[in-house]
Amino acid sequence: MKDVGSVLDLPLRPTTGDSSWFTEARFGMFIHWGLYALPARHEWVKHYERLSNDDYQKYFEHFDPDLYNPEIWADAAAEAGMKYFVITTKHHDGFCLWDTELTDYKITNTPYGKDAIAPMVRAFESRGLETGFYHSLIDWHHPHFRVDEMHPLRDHPDRKKLNESRIPARYTEYLHGQVRELLTRYPKLRLIFFDFSYPSTPGKLNAQGEPWEGKGHLDWGSEELVRMIRQLNPQILLDDRLDLPGQADAWDYMTPEQYQPDGWKTVEGQRVVWEACQTFSGSWGYYRDEETWKSVKQLLLMLIDTVAKGGNLLLNVGPTGRGEFDERALDRLKGMGEWMKRHNRSIYGCTMAPFEAPQDCRYTYNPKTNRLYLHVLSWPTGALRLQGLNDRFEYAQLLNDASEVRFVVGGEHEEFTGITLKLPVKSPNVSIPVIEIYLKPA
Ligand code: GLC
Repeated sequence: MKDVGSVLDLPLRPTTGDSSWFTEARFGMFIHWGLYALPARHEWVKHYERLSNDDYQKYFEHFDPDLYNPEIWADAAAEAGMKYFVITTKHHDGFCLWDTELTDYKITNTPYGKDAIAPMVRAFESRGLETGFYHSLIDWHHPHFRVDEMHPLRDHPDRKKLNESRIPARYTEYLHGQVRELLTRYPKLRLIFFDFSYPSTPGKLNAQGEPWEGKGHLDWGSEELVRMIRQLNPQILLDDRLDLPGQADAWDYMTPEQYQPDGWKTVEGQRVVWEACQTFSGSWGYYRDEETWKSVKQLLLMLIDTVAKGGNLLLNVGPTGRGEFDERALDRLKGMGEWMKRHNRSIYGCTMAPFEAPQDCRYTYNPKTNRLYLHVLSWPTGALRLQGLNDRFEYAQLLNDASEVRFVVGGEHEEFTGITLKLPVKSPNVSIPVIEIYLKPA
């Protein structure tokens, strides 16, 4: 982890939307759900297997999540300790989970026949979770979305011809229309996670030796889109994938994906609001045969590590084609919830601490309550030594059972000028033990 002090000296980049609830919440659920739950081998299956709309149509015709009950999903999220959720209204395959008026390529026209978004928002909000929408900028189904380097038909022999009839402005209009529709139907929407931009770069060539064609802010009409959104909902938070990095009101938070940053994310000398998005197993959509599932402990470590660096964790579930969270996801959520029940004080409202944590530990800090949380990733024998807290230390306890952790100033057996915590020999029986330290005012 990078040096704590120097990062915290940097100013925090202000957000245009309201980020106060977001940095308080710290832990959210991402949900990737759509037709790709049926092939169950990655949400990019249409791209990887170069499937045409016709090839992909069988998933539309067989989409019937008969066990879908968002009340069960919302319970699983709330019990895991999550405070908001972000659902894919549309992913790159173009399939819409809500009853939009702007296309027939939507859930209400599948055998399932019902809108999935409205009851989901109701269920999660009734448990106090905030709502966000992930909305794909990319659309591999729309007839006016030009075939580019990411498109399933990128290697089609008639690629040029296919593009001749495509009018990009029509797609832009469709994109804006759908966003307007969503914002109008969901005025309390807290955030939009647009995904993603891959602008063409001059001089870059594709495998055929032709200019590499991507898409960016001009294709999305990002400036206008942002203007419309800010007008319709001034509170809303926007992610950073609209390809307008230099425009202050075009994004509120950064979205590092599938990696843990070294420290607090910064841009041009400012700390930014940020959120790591992570998966249980690698893919975002339901992937039956994936065997790379992270353990509960690893996932908790990601959450703690993220908050210790001043960020949020958005952890993804890919529900099945029957409409359920599969047993592996439920197992991980349950395990995290078990820990969160007793340790969420070290997560909610917490951020990077202004102290350097000891080896094999992570600090988080709640500036409102003035408490420091020491997460002990590897339980030492007998003593844990803390630097820089002598004037601030008031009281310490294990967070799981509020049992006192005694301390001495100085080292007990060897020379040390800091504080030595006297630990029980046995680690508390929790995934990651936390010591709550009450600080005196600075
Ligand atoms: C991506 C992927 C994707 C996923 C997402 C989550 O860039 O295209 O499938 O939805 O990021 O951050």
